[in-house]
Amino acid sequence: MSVRLRKLSYALGAEVCDVDVAKPMSERQFGEIYQAFLDHGILLFRNQDITRERHIEFSRRFGELDRHEALPRDRHPDYPELLMVTNEPKPDGSPSDTKYTGRQWHSDMSFTTAPSLGSLLRSYAVPEVGGDTLFANMYLAYHTLSEGMKKLIAGLHGVHLSGTRKLANDNTGIDRMHEQKKLNPPVAQPVVRVHPETGRKALYIGEKVKRFDGMTEEESRPIIEFLVRHATRPEFVYRHPWRKNDILAWDNRCVMHQALGDFDETQLRHMERTTVLGTWSGYIIT
Ligand code: SIN
Repeated sequence: MSVRLRKLSYALGAEVCDVDVAKPMSERQFGEIYQAFLDHGILLFRNQDITRERHIEFSRRFGELDRHEALPRDRHPDYPELLMVTNEPKPDGSPSDTKYTGRQWHSDMSFTTAPSLGSLLRSYAVPEVGGDTLFANMYLAYHTLSEGMKKLIAGLHGVHLSGTRKLANDNTGIDRMHEQKKLNPPVAQPVVRVHPETGRKALYIGEKVKRFDGMTEEESRPIIEFLVRHATRPEFVYRHPWRKNDILAWDNRCVMHQALGDFDETQLRHMERTTVLGTWSGYIIT
């Protein structure tokens, strides 16, 4: 293997060492990187001081990119393939629409009928301390369930909603949340997904799941809460402390993540994400 890897944690993740993603890469070298992506769920590329064009170009090697029609407010005005995750105030001084993006455990675009294959998040500015992201290995989460629980959830579909949880005592994100709800009706996804490339079963759950299709919220809630709690046990999780110019690529089909708000909000945290389109799954709830 010509690509050098360093494991990030017991649960998941590997750093790809000595690779400049902006440089031409042979099919063979990218093939090794893609295999590592499938094997480890998350890949970290440090020190990638690259242009937006190169970020997009490298991401395209993973597959076709989402132009974020489902999240029009959050796209970069000149690069629809880039989703902004930033607490930088808007030019008129009002709070950013995306300052609370990702604060719930989720898998990207799970609220659409073509949930994402993977995401590549690049850090432009990080706070002095904190602003970390947590990632959970959903293969491990599934495989460590009891046989009884596996049977119980086998045929279930979780109803995923779009929208950001409001975390502050201001109205930040409220308009965006209403707009997202209108654009994205609830979508039901299988709770157990078979990864289309590895063939392995993974739990597909998160805090955007409101209930199970065919069940009430009251009936569903304890099982959803158990599954999220189980999947996010410390031994299944990697916590990423960001450095400027990191690119983190993760596989949304077997990894869920959560952005922590563990930083001084007066400091800038600015990230940009490409989202690789996945295959069709689930159905719209009318
Ligand atoms: C996301 O959910 O894609 C953003 C994660 C982060 O900001 O750490």
